[in-house]
Amino acid sequence: MKNIAVAGTGYVGLSTGTCFADMGNKVTCIDINEEKIDMLRQGKVPIFEPGLSEMIVRNVKAGRLHFTTSYVEALADAEYIFICVGTPSGVDGEADLQYVRMAAQSVAQNMTKPIIVVNKSTVPVGTGDWVADIIKRSQPQPMAFDVVSCPEFTREGSALTDFMNPDRVVLGSKNPEAAEKVAQLHLALRTRIIITDLRTAEMIKYASNAFLATKISFINEIAAICEKLGADVQEVAVGMGYDKRIGPAFLNAGLGYGGSCFPKDVKALEHMALVHGSHPSLLRAVIDINRDARRWALLTLRELLGGRLTDRRIGVLGLAFKPNTDDLRESPALDICRMLQNEGALVTGYDPVAMAGAARMNSDLHLAEDPYDLAEGADALVVCTEWNEFKQLDLARIKNSMLQPVVVDGRNLYEPDKMHELGFQYRAVGRGAKYTNGH
Ligand code: UGA
Repeated sequence: MKNIAVAGTGYVGLSTGTCFADMGNKVTCIDINEEKIDMLRQGKVPIFEPGLSEMIVRNVKAGRLHFTTSYVEALADAEYIFICVGTPSGVDGEADLQYVRMAAQSVAQNMTKPIIVVNKSTVPVGTGDWVADIIKRSQPQPMAFDVVSCPEFTREGSALTDFMNPDRVVLGSKNPEAAEKVAQLHLALRTRIIITDLRTAEMIKYASNAFLATKISFINEIAAICEKLGADVQEVAVGMGYDKRIGPAFLNAGLGYGGSCFPKDVKALEHMALVHGSHPSLLRAVIDINRDARRWALLTLRELLGGRLTDRRIGVLGLAFKPNTDDLRESPALDICRMLQNEGALVTGYDPVAMAGAARMNSDLHLAEDPYDLAEGADALVVCTEWNEFKQLDLARIKNSMLQPVVVDGRNLYEPDKMHELGFQYRAVGRGAKYTNGH
């Protein structure tokens, strides 16, 4: 059993802390937000992540997981502190490091014995050195510490399973012994552990996210071409995916990537490249194609509804940036709602878990009780998030209650043949003219 502190109780901090506690360690999670810590102490989890709430309750009960706002308390016995605070986008796309700086200063001022500072927040290449420098300068008296980069590769919606079954763990440090000690924490996961230097570990994270985002933009570009040429991008992706050098993952064409990671990280990498005199043209294209992917929904709706969207009643099916989360950050659905509202459309949304948050972010958005309520009297439905529960809807009932049977499927959730059989005017992403014409 190791003694671990975790700074930041967002998606990354909570899942990291809870999983380490579940592996038998003593974990104290710190957050500067008192309200959040109060909620967590009462067993209430501020985010929706499948299985997390149960795992937190189990580990709190077992005495392995604690929550506090006090660095003094969290650092009293800690051998490691994982920094998992947010790194939002700054004005030029650069990562804003103010929370990392605050966490590093708090560690420096409150540590009472040597500690390993593990950076899990996604931070620009070079931040590990910067953190070490801040700690050194903020310590009341010199005390030994090491900085290790341990980038996060879990996905929201499957964070716990991803944490417990990683494809690899990447660790970077100036001091290989410190990296080895962090490796010890991960041995039970029985996975490949790659130990490298700080900057390389930080770059592995950006390169991985940027590559996955590139796969998505690539397939979205192919989808746009498929649409023009009458091919089916779904089958193209399957055909490509069997090639082991390509692989099937992240080749789902649709409205593009959203969330708190890909949009921010691709922009941050582009910014890093630019300010260091590199010319990141591929990353720019990835960002550009992703922007167009959202516009596809608007253009397709205009086309199917006769050009004008003023006073059209549009139902948006799914608001979260992807299924199994209530996270709305950079959600394509929210962008699409706003674009439609700007054209005068009356927009109603439905999402199994993200509606309250969406209403806070868009006060003109109407909310439906369920997908059937959403369809009632609608001129069109747009599928923005591929929640499982949308796959089994009674589509005939949906069609009968709509004013016009128009469905724009931004996540390729339904089968074009079946939708046409049911009498929908149906459009999916990159699924060729043969489908859009209904034969
Ligand atoms: C992503 C990475 O997958 C994680 O490895 C990483 O740890 C995390 O960012 C992070 O940096 O913290 P996440 O943002 O939770 O995880 O979500 P993903 O499942 O990767 O999906 C991102 C976006 O891409 C979603 O909007 C999703 O709808 C979209 N997507 C994904 C596609 O449009 N097509 C695909 O084929 C796959």
